[in-house]
Amino acid sequence: MKAARADALVFYGATGDLAFKKIFPALQRLVARGLLDVPVIGVARSAQGLDALRARARESVTRHGGGVDERAFPKLLGLLRYVSGDYADPATFAALKAELGEHRHAVHYMAIPQGLFGLVGERLVAAGLSQGARLLIEKPFGSDLDSSRELNAALHAHFPESDLFRIDHYLGKSTVENLVFFRFANAFLEPIWNRNYVQSVQITMAEDFGVQGRGAFYERAGALRDVVQNHLLQVVSNIAMEPPPRSHDPETMREEKVKVLKGIAPISPKHVVRGQFVGYRDEAGVAADSDVETFVALKLGVNTWRWQGVPFYIRAGKCLPLTRTEVVVRLRCPPPIVDGVSLPANHVRFRLSPDFVIALGAAIQACDDEPGAQPRAEPVELELTHSLLGEPDPYEELIHDALNGDPYRFAREDWVEEAWRIVDPVLRASTPLHAYAPGTWGPAEADALLPGGWFVAED
Ligand code: BG6
Repeated sequence: MKAARADALVFYGATGDLAFKKIFPALQRLVARGLLDVPVIGVARSAQGLDALRARARESVTRHGGGVDERAFPKLLGLLRYVSGDYADPATFAALKAELGEHRHAVHYMAIPQGLFGLVGERLVAAGLSQGARLLIEKPFGSDLDSSRELNAALHAHFPESDLFRIDHYLGKSTVENLVFFRFANAFLEPIWNRNYVQSVQITMAEDFGVQGRGAFYERAGALRDVVQNHLLQVVSNIAMEPPPRSHDPETMREEKVKVLKGIAPISPKHVVRGQFVGYRDEAGVAADSDVETFVALKLGVNTWRWQGVPFYIRAGKCLPLTRTEVVVRLRCPPPIVDGVSLPANHVRFRLSPDFVIALGAAIQACDDEPGAQPRAEPVELELTHSLLGEPDPYEELIHDALNGDPYRFAREDWVEEAWRIVDPVLRASTPLHAYAPGTWGPAEADALLPGGWFVAED
């Protein structure tokens, strides 16, 4: 059955950082595409009124949304409303109810700290606003397996799973979705995408900047919670899942992704290297003796029929030499054509962020200057780039889907809990923390994790 389209969008944290950097720009683009025409109600603690929120929306699209769209922006302002108040105060929700009027099928977008998700859910119930409502919930969903179970239980007491839309913005990236499409749509790849041909998979999420003023948030997260438990395990799911059924049924697609995680054993702390960039402890909101990792590298296995024995390596870090998320699937080498000629392994490389690249690493016979020289293999890359210009931004995609009630690009309860199960032992273990200099590829110990080394494409 097709879900009903929501008749209002309420977003909590309207004066916050996420609204400023991501939500207002996404709303302007949705209006520009003619996809948003319902009331948009911002909720925040700030006592400043609607005019102040409108001014902030203008600044937001100017700085982060490619500028004010002279046609769309006035329409967005026409849809915008503001409710100010404390999230614990029932009066805030009475005011929200009055503002919603006849609208009873709102999406309630919680762009607020995770400690408030349960509270807002309860207040919605008490105010009689939960019936017919959907919750759109920012990450992180919980901070370990127990807390994510508790949060799920608290929300499920009033909201069925079909009304919970857990955000992971990597699911809104077309480059991440394309992993599934490209694997199954191409006859040269589909038959070899398994343990018989794949030697290893490596995923790197590198950022050349630090915590950008989010020190207090990062102290509660660290690289494992911030990007591995969610974004990078979603990437693993897309690389490793079985073919989606031919009907585009979101639940069976999501089921396949959960099956991948079920095949992954909890990560062993001995397969983890944690690092912290020098200078992190001087950031605002960071403890002088902080043990939080800004870099992590790890190894895991996907224990399914297709992937048995193929190691998956993940590394993610702040203050690395460049900003890029890439997957490199390394293939097994054929035997040498001529004795003594060693071959470089073939690979398929996907750049997921900040741009879209697919590259095939191949071996060719090197050209030699001298007649009669022994053949030699030379590694080459065939690279395909694809412009992302004009494509919906992940937040645009996700807000649109939530309004339409399409769950495919959201993390399901069981996926989130499986992901916590996988990283939980590492969160509990106090593995050593190695310092690394900003602008390097993290601690040297991370290199020892991966035989043959991490692949870094030359630009
Ligand atoms: C967020 C993390 O979820 O993803 C940030 O909290 C990280 O720390 C960001 O920088 C990266 O997203 P993207 O889309 O720029 O790869």
